[in-house]
Amino acid sequence: LDNGVALTPPMGWLSWERFECNTDCDVDKNNCISEWLMKEMADVMVANGYRDAGYAYVALDDCWLAHERDERGQLQADPKRFPSGMKALADYLHQRGMKLGIYEDIGTKTCAGFPGCMGNMQKDANTMAEWGVDMLKFDGCNAHIADYDYGFPAMARYLNSTGRHIVYSCEWPMYKKAQGGTCNYTAIAESCNMFRQLTDIYDSWYSVIGMIEYFGDDPGNFSQVAGPGAWNDPDQVVIGNFGLSHDQERVQMALYAILASPLMVSADFRKIRKSSQDILLNPGVIAINQDPLAIQGKRIRNVMKLSIWTRPVQPVGSYAIAFLYTQESGSPIKASANLTSDLGLTDSRGYLFTEVFENDVIGKFRSTDIFTCFVNPTGVVLVKAEPIRNSH
Ligand code: GLA
Repeated sequence: LDNGVALTPPMGWLSWERFECNTDCDVDKNNCISEWLMKEMADVMVANGYRDAGYAYVALDDCWLAHERDERGQLQADPKRFPSGMKALADYLHQRGMKLGIYEDIGTKTCAGFPGCMGNMQKDANTMAEWGVDMLKFDGCNAHIADYDYGFPAMARYLNSTGRHIVYSCEWPMYKKAQGGTCNYTAIAESCNMFRQLTDIYDSWYSVIGMIEYFGDDPGNFSQVAGPGAWNDPDQVVIGNFGLSHDQERVQMALYAILASPLMVSADFRKIRKSSQDILLNPGVIAINQDPLAIQGKRIRNVMKLSIWTRPVQPVGSYAIAFLYTQESGSPIKASANLTSDLGLTDSRGYLFTEVFENDVIGKFRSTDIFTCFVNPTGVVLVKAEPIRNSH
């Protein structure tokens, strides 16, 4: 969607996977979906370097709404959990250099049963703009398959006509496919800034690797429509929760970088492990994710649980390369790749290889050489290969 925003994959925090539909502020005030949770998360994101690393959006998912619209028929946040109102929440975030994301649904109700936008899209787009919302995640529950191809672009137009620049995150392809429909990815990319391909991610290796493999399979070639303002969305980053090992967290971060995926993290930044925080804030991996060439990477080899993924990055001629090993036990595997025939690295000047997580120079390789590394079980090695110039 050419609306001036999301020129690189959006980065931020999203409430859903970690906090779900917790509305019980009486018993669990620290973790319920509320303005306190939002403000605390924003404060921690500023204090601990997330904002400065690029994580700008602080986004509510389902369950922020009141159960009814107000007397004028407008959307309203739950008054008990958002006593200061949405405008004040947006102001709070904007004062700190951050942005507000909210969630709504194309249908009669959201997935959790709160008021949906059906029949009120224009009014609701205007309300969101008046509040100062910067991102809308638009879900597809409680609608008919015939509603999607009309409704998702309609909301894009209503948001656009407010004049406010709002990142528009759609679940359009996921609902189309789930109901047996086919997707026009070009049309989806023209109407949405990011678009969910598959059902919800959750906090486990099985879920994360399933999502990544689906993006490797790339059915319908959806990778081709990625670019500035339009990103395929493999759902939230779950790094920092309960289900992934250290290596598995590195896999999600590395592969989301290769895939030019939005980095919407659903974790509790107030109590995240240092090792997880370091992965999320790794400048080299973020730079690949946010690379200005804006090309989604691909899986180019896949043999016996060892796969190779590449993404063209700047400076032109360079590649980010991930070696991914999905075996769940045993020893690290030796991965060897011929630069030309396995990796497509044909520049006669040769390449300088750097390990990305630690920012360690590995060495120089000619296009006829073999690059070798060892990859941990359910682990990844992420390298960058840059054509050798005289300055190297
Ligand atoms: C759907 C979406 C999720 C989340 C929930 C909220 O399942 O796919 O991402 O937004 O609804 O109810």
